[in-house]
Amino acid sequence: MINHYRPTWAEINLNHLWHNYSEAKKEAPNKEVIPVIKANAYGHGAIPIFKFLYQRGVRFFAVSLLEEALELRKVLNDASILMMGPLLIEDLQIASDNRIEFTIYDIPIYEAVMKSNLKLTCHLKIDSGMSRYGLIEPKMIIDVVSNLQSKKNIDLKGIYTHFATANENEEFYFNQVIRMKNILDQIKVKPRMIHMSNSSSTFKYEKKYDFTTHVRLGISLYGLSLDDPKPNIIPVMSLKSKVVQIKELHNGDSLGYGATYKAKGHEFIAILPIGYADGLIRKNKNGCVEINSKKYKIVGIICMDACFIKVDETVHVGDVATIFGGIITVDDIAKRLNTINYEVVTSVSNRVPRIMVEGAKI
Ligand SMILES: Cc1ncc(COP(=O)(O)O)c(C=O)c1O
Repeated sequence: MINHYRPTWAEINLNHLWHNYSEAKKEAPNKEVIPVIKANAYGHGAIPIFKFLYQRGVRFFAVSLLEEALELRKVLNDASILMMGPLLIEDLQIASDNRIEFTIYDIPIYEAVMKSNLKLTCHLKIDSGMSRYGLIEPKMIIDVVSNLQSKKNIDLKGIYTHFATANENEEFYFNQVIRMKNILDQIKVKPRMIHMSNSSSTFKYEKKYDFTTHVRLGISLYGLSLDDPKPNIIPVMSLKSKVVQIKELHNGDSLGYGATYKAKGHEFIAILPIGYADGLIRKNKNGCVEINSKKYKIVGIICMDACFIKVDETVHVGDVATIFGGIITVDDIAKRLNTINYEVVTSVSNRVPRIMVEGAKI
């Protein structure tokens, strides 16, 4: 459901998105940057971002689920779409019919592909240390590659791996690179796409590699990073709402569910129509929002559709409150909630409309 009637929205700055994409491209000269637009483009709105990047010439995209891939396919017929998550064997036909490139992540799907007469395009995933999807054993991988390449109906278009620690543990990271490189060196006919880097690896290391053809850019496309220092990227999403009511409390008046907050005098409370069902989870209690360039505290218990902000006389009905994306950043919220920026943006729920803006030139 998209609610365009309530003054709560996520502003998505496409100009910033393009800036971030271009910064990543500088790190991967002569290579392609694959935007990762799974999970509704990390909460930013997969369809408009898909269309926007396509208009700018991007032709290859990555998602996680078959559902996500099919949603994109309905919109654009000729973009390449890689599904990175596990495809069920019974869904090979759907992948083939819709020209979805999928991942061979395990032996049963490999065997099913080998038996199939469908026209299939796939990428082989190497598990180089993360112990998630992918094949591990080098000898087996070499055989799988040549067997897939021997079948006329199968296009083994790519081979890839994923890093567990690009942002935090160099030794572990480089062990993964070495394992991947060793395997690639043993493959006689290399698939035409070789991709490893996520955001952190793209900005920190990709220039070192002459054997890859693509990088997969997720979080930093959206202007966020776990690296310190951060690359030259700009956050794309701001989460906003408008004050819909001001309540005046007097000494001892209570506020909200559980009556947990009690006024300690004459207080002004601004009510924002945004709550935990929008992604402003209850743990944000005691955090702040920005109104008129000032920080104000969230008080009382956050409701499903509303929250309470302790303000002063300068705040009025209709004023815009920025939950994050102004003086309060996504990283501030992540710190407040003891999580990572990925979780903050992907938690903004579907009922918050995403408003695409193309801001001033950078
Ligand atoms: C296989 C794969 N590649 C690339 C990415 C993008 O990673 P990041 O968001 O860190 O750039 C992800 C995200 O989780 C992923 O699962």
